[in-house]
Amino acid sequence: MTQTAPEPTAAGSGSAATEAFRVAQRTRAHAGSDAQRIDTVARDLIGRINDVVREHKVTYDEYAAVKAWLIEVGETGEWPLWFDVFVEHTVEEVAHADRKGSKGSIEGPYYLPDQAQLPAECTLPMRPDEKGAPLVLSGQVRSVDGTPLAGATIEIWHADADGYYSGFAPGVPDGNLRGVVTADDQGRFSISTVEPAPYEIPKDGPTGKLIAAAGWHAWRPAHLHLMVHAPGHETLTTQLYFKGGQWLDSDVAQATKPELVLDPQPDGQGRRVASYDFVLDPA
Ligand code: DHB
Ligand code: FE
Repeated sequence: MTQTAPEPTAAGSGSAATEAFRVAQRTRAHAGSDAQRIDTVARDLIGRINDVVREHKVTYDEYAAVKAWLIEVGETGEWPLWFDVFVEHTVEEVAHADRKGSKGSIEGPYYLPDQAQLPAECTLPMRPDEKGAPLVLSGQVRSVDGTPLAGATIEIWHADADGYYSGFAPGVPDGNLRGVVTADDQGRFSISTVEPAPYEIPKDGPTGKLIAAAGWHAWRPAHLHLMVHAPGHETLTTQLYFKGGQWLDSDVAQATKPELVLDPQPDGQGRRVASYDFVLDPA
């Protein structure tokens, strides 16, 4: 069956991402209201914006264009997309600088909680005619001292073979290519899915307009998103990429790391298999 789903729009993805962020924010621990910290960070940020105006001799017309653009990013709900593409990678780097276990990467705007609970060996929920090359990701969750972490959970979500995420793109069923996998008593798991395509930021909104106006590209390399939890351990939020994948060396979100690149191999049964062990730091 061929069906043409409507293209996701920036406003559609943006407002869905803003709503998902607002829901998550209700349960997140809140940043303190330490006036001294706010003074330090806000003063430095505002100072640097003023430095840019001075250094580049920003004109009144450019200043007005920036104000109009900022208003549009807010009105279309694109701030979660914009920040996760241009800023989250540095927040992640700073937050996890002392980590000894597996490398983390950005969460991005498309995580959704409370997805299907799946056993250690499983297939992600997908459409009967789901496009894409079959892929199996297997491995083990361990602590930094090598102890297998029985019953660890692995939340996994990724784009489909058209580069679209369920819950954010029209036409993709809720929960598609998302799941919460419980590892076995040795921390092992084996997840069957399909290979995602690279993801392109919707170009019809203000984030896309900025990227086009500056002559940049809007692509992220194909990736799997993972959030790995185990009792007594820090949660690991990361992504896995594919060796040789397009845009791997020019990710618009600057979220790739050499340690996070899979090299899947054919298993002789029409699938490609990759293994990855997640090593968690004690909390
Ligand atoms: C964005 C999308 C992603 O899939 C991702 O992993 C990171 C950022 C974004 O559009 O902002
Ligand atoms: Fe993503």
